[in-house]
Amino acid sequence: MAIALSVNLNKIALLRNSREGDFPRLLDFARWAIELGVQGITVHPRPDQRHIRASDIPTLAKLVSEYEKVEFNVEGNPFAPAQGSYPGFIELVKQSKPHQCTLVPDSNDQLTSDHGFDLKKDGERLRPIIEELKDAGIRVSLFMDPVIEQIKLAKTVGAARIELYTGPFAHAYAKGESNAEDIFQEHKVAAEYAMLLGMGVNAGHDLNLDNMKLYGTLPGLQEVSIGHALTIDALKTGFPTAIRSYLKACSR
Ligand code: PXP
Repeated sequence: MAIALSVNLNKIALLRNSREGDFPRLLDFARWAIELGVQGITVHPRPDQRHIRASDIPTLAKLVSEYEKVEFNVEGNPFAPAQGSYPGFIELVKQSKPHQCTLVPDSNDQLTSDHGFDLKKDGERLRPIIEELKDAGIRVSLFMDPVIEQIKLAKTVGAARIELYTGPFAHAYAKGESNAEDIFQEHKVAAEYAMLLGMGVNAGHDLNLDNMKLYGTLPGLQEVSIGHALTIDALKTGFPTAIRSYLKACSR
């Protein structure tokens, strides 16, 4: 089975926000990616709205809903409260009802997500939130490091999927493929364990055309969300070529 490619639009939004107005239009890029064959659109609205804005979410949700086989994935910190025009992460998710909500333990001052949940600390706070999203018909995925005892807790608190944080793998891979092999093995064990418990496995962060040659062989991997490298490749090769290349990387 091919790995679903969910294109993260954060970087397109960052470009838009650098000027007044709505250019480039996120909706155009979302539609373009979908018409080119991607299986998902991902956004990560942060409370400071530095890239994706709260106001982007309903229009993107509506667009994605026009396509039967395409999923909308909204990721972010479930504990982020309302702030100005940002209604709070969970409120935003409940309003837009994406297919999937990926919960991420990132604080506002983080440049980007850089670790998975510590469920010994946050598990009990997450449990009712996961339940609430599940009741609203939204699949919940938890952003996780490849640590077995943490994966076990992900199941206990009710996650349907985990998203393995691939940053350390990608950084090791960039230094030389052999460095990444050990980390990849940890991901393999974690993925197999998650599947054994009945959870699905997604992955993301710093994935690119190069490291997907290895990461794309992860057993059972259902979905990758990719934004940063894909946007840079789109600058180099054009958006359609970049999307097609990533689809090929996911096609195993
Ligand atoms: N997954 C999560 C939880 C993220 O925060 C991000 C970045 O927004 C990604 C995946 C995608 O990472 P990248 O932009 O490096 O492809």
